[in-house]
Amino acid sequence: MEPCSFPHIESQLAPILVRHGYDATRLLQVLREVQDVLHFIPPEAVTCIASHFGMPRSGVEGVAGFYSFLSLKPAGEYRILFSDNITDHMLGKPELMQYFCNKLWVEPGKVSEDNLVSVDSTSCTGMCDQGPAALVNGWPLTNLDNNRLDLIAELIRLRKPLADWPPMLFEVADNIRRKGVLLDETQEPGAAIRETLARGARQTLAELDMSNLRGRGGAGFKTAAKWSFCHAAIAEEDGSEICDVDGTTKRVMVCNADEGEPGTFKDRVLLASYADLVFEGMTVGARVVGASKGFLYLRGEYRYLLDRLNTVLDRRRASGLLGRDILGEKGFDFDIEIHLGAGAYICGEESALIESLEGKRGRPRNRPPFPVTHGYLGLPTVVDNVETFACAARIAERGGAWFAAMGTPQSTGSKILSISGDCARPGIYEYPFGVTVREILADCGAQEPYAVQVSGPSGCMISWKEFERKIAFEDLPTAGAFMIFRRNRDVFQAAHNFVHFFAHESCGFCTPCRVGTQLQKKIMDKIDSGHGTVCDLEEMKRLGHLMKSMSHCGLGHTAGNPVLDTMEKFPDVYERKLANLAFEPAFDLDGALETAREITGRDDAWAHL
Ligand SMILES: Cc1cc2nc3c(=O)[nH]c(=O)nc-3n(C[C@H](O)[C@H](O)[C@H](O)COP(=O)(O)O)c2cc1C
Ligand code: SF4
Repeated sequence: MEPCSFPHIESQLAPILVRHGYDATRLLQVLREVQDVLHFIPPEAVTCIASHFGMPRSGVEGVAGFYSFLSLKPAGEYRILFSDNITDHMLGKPELMQYFCNKLWVEPGKVSEDNLVSVDSTSCTGMCDQGPAALVNGWPLTNLDNNRLDLIAELIRLRKPLADWPPMLFEVADNIRRKGVLLDETQEPGAAIRETLARGARQTLAELDMSNLRGRGGAGFKTAAKWSFCHAAIAEEDGSEICDVDGTTKRVMVCNADEGEPGTFKDRVLLASYADLVFEGMTVGARVVGASKGFLYLRGEYRYLLDRLNTVLDRRRASGLLGRDILGEKGFDFDIEIHLGAGAYICGEESALIESLEGKRGRPRNRPPFPVTHGYLGLPTVVDNVETFACAARIAERGGAWFAAMGTPQSTGSKILSISGDCARPGIYEYPFGVTVREILADCGAQEPYAVQVSGPSGCMISWKEFERKIAFEDLPTAGAFMIFRRNRDVFQAAHNFVHFFAHESCGFCTPCRVGTQLQKKIMDKIDSGHGTVCDLEEMKRLGHLMKSMSHCGLGHTAGNPVLDTMEKFPDVYERKLANLAFEPAFDLDGALETAREITGRDDAWAHL
């Protein structure tokens, strides 16, 4: 490959490109590593990467510009990103961030004059049980308070490398408070694969079917059905076998560990302490559908788990649980690679995730075709949640009937919840499906509970009147988040925070969501500042329904939920904030012309327009 014309950049790039085999599907990983070394992605690096990958500069810039952890402009040598979830706010995030900025003489969102530090906000980092949280150059900081921030500011001023920072700053606790069938029992690595081999792929699929396992990532699709569709998709339309470039890979198993829904952190714990169970489930799945390639798509916020997870994979390879002829079974070849995300909630959506795996922007695809027939590089691909794979491993070992006996008939087995907000014991709780909200609130020591946001911003907010409702697909489905708000909390601020989240995370591909989320944010800001009117509430209802019906993917379909839900269940919260006017424009023409008046020295500058 021809070197590019920037030798100082080329020398830093070369080892990264070699490590990734000059493979364009590795573009996101390459950009992440360039950012690690240079603290941003300079234009010369964009040019070099584009020339090595034989793509236009705009293609590389397009990818780099899409992911919020990548920066095309110089960022600080220490890049601090405060987690912006509502639970972080409730624990004092805005004040702490301001305190930290004052200490370091830096404005939020800007880089210090000496390029040493930049401070900004980022969407929920998945540490709501130990917030307020932040990331420093991608590494998690937890339980932040003024003392910790004083220490961090000092370490930055002394330019101490992160490796020399006190380890307690980076400690992440599991906070497992209640164990059930997934978390309580141990499974010997290989036990589920052995059972699968003994029983055969077809019978294992039958057990999965009998278990009635439904996906734990949100939509609740039946896992056995998904696996059997992928297995059935063995031929292209012309009847030829599907193979990728190396001529061997036929189907792909992907574990979705993007966990971007604010308030969700149960996959973090499964990966930190139950990784064998998750990889075991992926391997069982590979046997059932006939996959030879696996990916774990790990959200960028969890990169601190990367080395630990790779160690588990190495151990499994050494024990014959991954690689060629797994457990001596001729032709059972399967291996797993970890792919790191870079700060984009939309990459949790399965088709956007696949785009991202291919090194592109995480833009949701048109469906059909669905990933089970045309997924990663056009190959039949299963995308399942971390917890779904953990359940599959247990079912393969213990059988479908055992699993189906737990929970409710429509929602079998257990559900792991990530509990945060106003309670004495935030953390991970595993329950059989069918548990009531009231029972959960009692277990975690909820303090004067008034409302609960179930399943994150894309889920629903329930009021105290609904605490007898059950966690189950047929009543309150949840991917895992359970955020508690006590009596004197302003639930408007929760909806306000969620609306900002969606506006930030919309990928911008389709107009209803791109424009709708921005308009929703503007109106909520207006109401928050005391200028909202009844017309604004009507407009938000209209927008919410429009996004639900007209958007391209699940993000847009659910982006109106926080406002629609809180307006319906807590109308007084909005009414209290409204100005006593029938209508006030969101755009202040008079204010916008203030600068023109100052420049011209005339009070009637607008009269000439
Ligand atoms: C905007 C958006 C974000 C999503 N994020 C996640 C996620 O972080 N993890 C996840 O497992 N599923 C997520 N999903 C759901 C996935 O698209 C997909 O349904 C899921 O991974 C399938 O796995 P399951 O059948 O095991 O639930 C998301 C969906 C949307 C629309
Ligand atoms: S709905 Fe939103 S996130 Fe989904 S494709 Fe459209 S703009 Fe992107």
